[in-house]
Amino acid sequence: MYKIPANTLFTGQNLIYVPECHSTNSLLSQLNNKSPLAEGTIVITDNQTAGRGQRGNTWEAQPGMNVTFSLLLRPTFLQAAGQFQLNIALSLAVAEALQFSLEQPIKLKWPNDILVGDKKIGGILIENQLLGTSIASSIAGIGININQENFSHHKATSLFRLTGTTFLLNDIFQRLMKSIELAYLSLRAGKAAIQKEHYLHALYKFNELHSFEAKGSEFYGLITDITESGKLCIESNGKTREFSLQEVRFLG
Ligand code: BTN
Repeated sequence: MYKIPANTLFTGQNLIYVPECHSTNSLLSQLNNKSPLAEGTIVITDNQTAGRGQRGNTWEAQPGMNVTFSLLLRPTFLQAAGQFQLNIALSLAVAEALQFSLEQPIKLKWPNDILVGDKKIGGILIENQLLGTSIASSIAGIGININQENFSHHKATSLFRLTGTTFLLNDIFQRLMKSIELAYLSLRAGKAAIQKEHYLHALYKFNELHSFEAKGSEFYGLITDITESGKLCIESNGKTREFSLQEVRFLG
């Protein structure tokens, strides 16, 4: 069972556990629309039956084996144009929390996949509600593969697969709460530039030649940067092109 974290100010202090739901992102959004919830509210489940991922993908997780939750934030201090800063802060926080349990380095694949080697151990789906040019609220859905052994996708992995050890889900959850709150408070305190540096340092295939696909054609390029709005900058044939999530795919 999940416990309210002992050492956070607000993250996870309002903890809503449901044994099963379609998607914690959808449930948290519905609950918050019904009556506004406190910043830091978490919806967490053991069995997500219609988990949602980036690009309209589904997120699959065996019941009771993984950590799947959503967090409500109100980053009103961020401009809508800078919303990717939240992706950066949360990706770093998740990587930092997981790194406690792993020797292999964790990499962040743009925009916010959590990888070990070439395999995905977790993902983040952030859904923002904008109010003019600001962000009124954000629902950050986080799924991390912990004790699951078998996956239908050959590029998925889990802490168990990487270490041969079974983990207590609540221990991982507590670490996540703490590192997420620290990263969020640090973002709020104006540390976006340093967080971006750390993000680029951990970025999968940063400054390495890799193959991509855009508009139906394949090309080789180097990831050189991320724009303010979160676009991926790829240098290819002496030119730098910027891509949004729907516009480019990593190959290989
Ligand atoms: C991705 O890598 O595509 C993002 C995956 C995000 C999955 C999490 S699990 C908890 C939360 N609820 C959802 O429906 N999705 C996110």
